[in-house]
Amino acid sequence: MTITVSGLSASHSGRTILQETDVTIRPRERIGLVGASGSGKSTLGHALIDKLRAQGERSVAHVPQSPDEALDPLRSMAFHWREAERASGLAPDQARRQELFAALRIEGGDLRKRPWGWSRGMQQRFVIAMALIGTPDLLVMDEPTSALDPVVAASTMSLLENYLSDRQTALLLITHDLGLAACRMDRLMVMQTGRIVEDAPTQKVLSAPKTDAARSLCLHRSWLELPC
Ligand SMILES: Nc1ncnc2c1ncn2[C@@H]1O[C@H](COP(=O)(O)OP(=O)(O)O)[C@@H](O)[C@H]1O
Ligand SMILES: [Mg+2]
Repeated sequence: MTITVSGLSASHSGRTILQETDVTIRPRERIGLVGASGSGKSTLGHALIDKLRAQGERSVAHVPQSPDEALDPLRSMAFHWREAERASGLAPDQARRQELFAALRIEGGDLRKRPWGWSRGMQQRFVIAMALIGTPDLLVMDEPTSALDPVVAASTMSLLENYLSDRQTALLLITHDLGLAACRMDRLMVMQTGRIVEDAPTQKVLSAPKTDAARSLCLHRSWLELPC
């Protein structure tokens, strides 16, 4: 199902931090939301999720930058998993859990442990697995791998992509890492001071950036030649 949201905006203390924005996301689309720090990427991600949920669209999931934002240090991993199932309106299903754990390669994780009993990389893959429980129409990931080392970050993205390859879930990847988005996303939305200034297929943005914001992201690097 194509997701269409219009009139997204946000302000804080009288200052507009997100100009009125419309977003359309088709099933299976891989969109990179890129832009300098402070350009409004996270604000747009939150506004999009809030509006979709307010419209009764349950099928949108969010992966925050750090697993700390999603996991309570005092609760076991089993508790988090049960809560995520409940939030998705699903009964506990061991086969589904095993499938997701295998897909994200966290089968070795002990569910009785608390988050700090798992490595950071495994915690973040657990958070991604939780977000996938209900096979959402849209997964919004806000800098999901920026706290991980580059090798773990790349393999985490690959595991996610493999899992989603035969599913309808669309992906909105918020990142300041243009290299990550260039390799893996088919469309880029470039943000600058609270608005989307460019929205086009990845190759087009990278090979012929139209705005200063996109040009400065591409500066000094030939992203198209990066090995993926
Ligand atoms: N809760 C808030 N209160 C006040 N200003 C905020 C708040 N959240 C974000 N901002 C401001 O909004 C702008 C966009 O922030 P953000 O969406 O986090 O950018 P990005 O994710 O692209 O780094 C920044 O100038 C930031 O300082
Ligand atoms: Mg942000």
